[in-house]
Amino acid sequence: MNNAQITAKGEKYVMNTYKRIPVAFVKGEGSWVWDADGNKYLDFLSGLAVNCLGYNHPVMVKAISEQAAKIMHTSNLYWIKQQVELAQVLVSQSCLGKAFFCNSGGEANESAIKLARKYAKARMGEGKYGIITFTNSFHGRTLATMAATGQTKYHKGFEPMPEGFGYAKFGDLEDLKNKITESTCAVMLEPIQGEGGINVSSQEFLKGVRKLCDQKGLLLIFDEVQCGIGRTGKFFAHQNFGVKPDVLTLAKSLAGGFPIGAMLASDEAASGFGPGDHASTFGGSHLACSTALAVVNHILDSGVMEHILNMGAYLMEEFQGLKDKYPFIKEVRGMGLMIGIQLEADGNWVLDQCQKEGLIINCVGGNVLRLLPTYVVTKEEANLAVGILDSVLAKL
Ligand SMILES: Cc1ncc(COP(=O)(O)O)c(C=O)c1O
Repeated sequence: MNNAQITAKGEKYVMNTYKRIPVAFVKGEGSWVWDADGNKYLDFLSGLAVNCLGYNHPVMVKAISEQAAKIMHTSNLYWIKQQVELAQVLVSQSCLGKAFFCNSGGEANESAIKLARKYAKARMGEGKYGIITFTNSFHGRTLATMAATGQTKYHKGFEPMPEGFGYAKFGDLEDLKNKITESTCAVMLEPIQGEGGINVSSQEFLKGVRKLCDQKGLLLIFDEVQCGIGRTGKFFAHQNFGVKPDVLTLAKSLAGGFPIGAMLASDEAASGFGPGDHASTFGGSHLACSTALAVVNHILDSGVMEHILNMGAYLMEEFQGLKDKYPFIKEVRGMGLMIGIQLEADGNWVLDQCQKEGLIINCVGGNVLRLLPTYVVTKEEANLAVGILDSVLAKL
């Protein structure tokens, strides 16, 4: 089947929840993908920050094929060695004490919301359940994580939203102070907002949030579903700011393309859950965890994060160069290989043109180009992407 045939069949049989581009990728290698018509593209989106080691990385292929041949899934009624080992590695890299595994970012955040409520109600009384999140945040598509998401466009048509969420202005400590009430039990935020437009927290803001949470006895939840697992050049994004959370959520890059989500929590916060309080049938399976272990160990042991820092700095400099050249580029921002280019122009047009020229990028909020290259992107590939973007922007 070619792109057109797959598109036509998809429109007939697949539910209409995405505004899909009429292209179907059928093969990948490193940072490159091929569509069903045989066209080749340089991928600077990585499956929305998921395919961190690129396509078909030998470390992942080996882990998946070896584990699939042994045992893929049992259930969480029994111990799973690979899950225990993954928990140990993640905990040892963090300031936290225990891990819970699930299958997606939304599920990880749902877990964090439940943990915060359970912990707070048990210690401070029934009235403690409120969670403050921030404008332009994105935390998922389940009802609770959608309610946590500080963008009303996602709530429309699904009301009534689950109760207990308040929204403060991202970056505004005073507004956060004003939004905290007697019922508040936690504050939840992305240290670098992804879907909201690659908005990087300031260190001062994050430190202020931590201090406020300590003063008021609130749990601090960092959603690193998009910015975690090396993307910023540190294993966890918050490590760039020197601020520690009580609860941390992960997904996307964690198993490089195999579905997995995780919530880490301090031993104290984790004590909020007991047997029966939370679960996930598929969460933390042998297959998911052995893939994640292979990906995480590779990121930690093979100099990947240094490469991310180098390539991130190089791309940032090149994009700043484009900003100097094109006055309609308002800002270039980001950290590591998580880069946003804010335009005073239609970003979706730029995205379409880039795709025609063989470069896959993304656009959020209508005018921010979102670039999430793989961690194995080379300097030659970086130059190619900058060249394509430059030629497209020249036509604006
Ligand atoms: C910061 C953040 N949190 C949560 C989610 C939801 O993750 P998932 O789509 O895996 O449920 C996303 C997805 O884009 C995200 O970027």
